[in-house]
Amino acid sequence: MTFPIPLWPAQASRHAADVDLLSGSFGALVALLSAPVFILMTIYLIRFRRGRRANRSHQEDRNVWLEVSWAVIPFVLVLVFYVRSTSMFLQQETPPDDALTIDVAARQWMWKFQHAEGAREINELHVPVDTPIRLTMTSQDVVHSLYLPALRIKRDVLPGRYTQLWFIADRPGTYRLHCAEFCGTDHSLMGGRIVVMRQADFTAWLAEAETDRSLAERGEALFAQLGCAGCHGARAQGRERPVRAPPLRGLYGSPAPLADGRVLVADEQYIRDSIVLPNRDVVAGYEPVMPPFGNVLEAEQVQQLQAYIESLGNERERP
Ligand code: CUA
Repeated sequence: MTFPIPLWPAQASRHAADVDLLSGSFGALVALLSAPVFILMTIYLIRFRRGRRANRSHQEDRNVWLEVSWAVIPFVLVLVFYVRSTSMFLQQETPPDDALTIDVAARQWMWKFQHAEGAREINELHVPVDTPIRLTMTSQDVVHSLYLPALRIKRDVLPGRYTQLWFIADRPGTYRLHCAEFCGTDHSLMGGRIVVMRQADFTAWLAEAETDRSLAERGEALFAQLGCAGCHGARAQGRERPVRAPPLRGLYGSPAPLADGRVLVADEQYIRDSIVLPNRDVVAGYEPVMPPFGNVLEAEQVQQLQAYIESLGNERERP
């Protein structure tokens, strides 16, 4: 479904077409339901205007079925839209498991994207066509919002938290991306473009991009550089408390029992919080001795460490 209005943004996904159909048909429904009111208002304004001879006696003229119908029919029609938009919303909240994850770090005033293979970009995002893409987003400073008009998706990007967006772009091309939350002086300039490429072109682009190291490998190097292995590494495990720290192999996705009795699942948010604010959720059996890295690391470095820790996720601890 295409619209002949030139101001309408391009459609680059199934979801975009669904959103346009939903908002277009809802607009049509509202027009259809309110048109009789305005038409009758105009007719009566003319017919009963001052000085006009007309029958102004109040006639009792009840029609129960007419009255019920104009309450029930619009209700049912609006209910159809409720069901349709709720199902679209739920679909938008649940990315498929096989989605390709790309990390997004926002800061005043730029967008940084990191691919798992190692490619990094600023204000430009290259993605393959017809592939589910999941964006894991966080902010270095204030609240931003990533808006991709051609995909009809937008979500706030918050400091200290991960939010996500997912999409399947089905039309190769170059589309705009924007910041949609006022975030300071250069908010209006905080934009860029998303390039949707054919699979072969994307593979060639990835090969050409700076991919000497994958995201997880960058994280591993950072892990060594920051001295994390001193407490989290296999050698430290034989030592006494408080020097040893929880092992990280097999951590991602598994339950993490805490010192205060709570049990959390070691998901993206948990791993991020454990790096940035380690003493908030202390693992059972360990001392709160890790220094917080929130002021030491950039958001994209935290994402690199996370990629490394997540890459250890499926390997079990070796004895
Ligand atoms: Cu970032 Cu507005």
